[in-house]
Amino acid sequence: MFSPHGPSLRELCVQALSSVERGYDLLAPKFDHTPFRTPDSVLRATTQALSDVGSFDHGLDVCCGTGAGMQVLSSLCRDRITGVDFSAGMLAQARRAFPDASWVRADARALPFTEGFDLAVSAGALGHFLPEERPTLFAGVHRALRPGGLFAIPIGTPSPRTSVSHWVTRGFDLTMRVRNAVWRPPFVMYYHTTSLSALRDDLTAVGFTVTDTALTGLGQHPGGSPRFRLILARKR
Ligand SMILES: C[S@@+](CC[C@H](N)C(=O)[O-])C[C@H]1O[C@@H](n2cnc3c(N)ncnc32)[C@H](O)[C@@H]1O
Repeated sequence: MFSPHGPSLRELCVQALSSVERGYDLLAPKFDHTPFRTPDSVLRATTQALSDVGSFDHGLDVCCGTGAGMQVLSSLCRDRITGVDFSAGMLAQARRAFPDASWVRADARALPFTEGFDLAVSAGALGHFLPEERPTLFAGVHRALRPGGLFAIPIGTPSPRTSVSHWVTRGFDLTMRVRNAVWRPPFVMYYHTTSLSALRDDLTAVGFTVTDTALTGLGQHPGGSPRFRLILARKR
């Protein structure tokens, strides 16, 4: 699937029938050859937007996977950068790509950091958290940041209802809901639970001041709205 180096359909099915953690352990060696890894264009646009916002010493990539967000942090942070993820397999791949970085294996719903970072990023992972889990996740990131620290989240904006991708992602969510109703352990991954307004509300509720900016270089939907935005949540 996806490319000659990507996972086979059978491998993807086995992964999707596992827990999230185990699924990513299995997918890790081939993850960078799937569309699930945040594309370099999004990482470059995020880096560019953040370089206009400030300068940073210590950076944290939440749900770092194989290290996509570490690319952003390594360009922007003058000092230590740290990736956190609960998949040992994904962390092993990330460590190979960024041997000088720090790595922590932990559940993002119980982040083990206190006021250690100026910048946190998270890309491509929020669909793995149920809406009711987000306050705990965001409170952990808030606690991990120093006062004035920034949490940056690049997100794709919803495609129009008339587009193929809208219905593909709706179909994906429906399939996962049926899968999770009949199969244990659950594999939580939904595209349509992470609207900008819901994320904004949850971030604000735990103490962030939230703005967002269009990543204009990444294109527009047919109606003219940007395909990607960058959420900027500042710890007061
Ligand atoms: C789609 S991948 C994204 C990886 C990377 N951030 C990127 O943009 O390519 C989602 C990552 O989130 C991690 N993840 C999901 N739920 C998690 C949790 N509760 N705690 C820690 N990591 C989690 C997975 O292990 C996986 O590495």
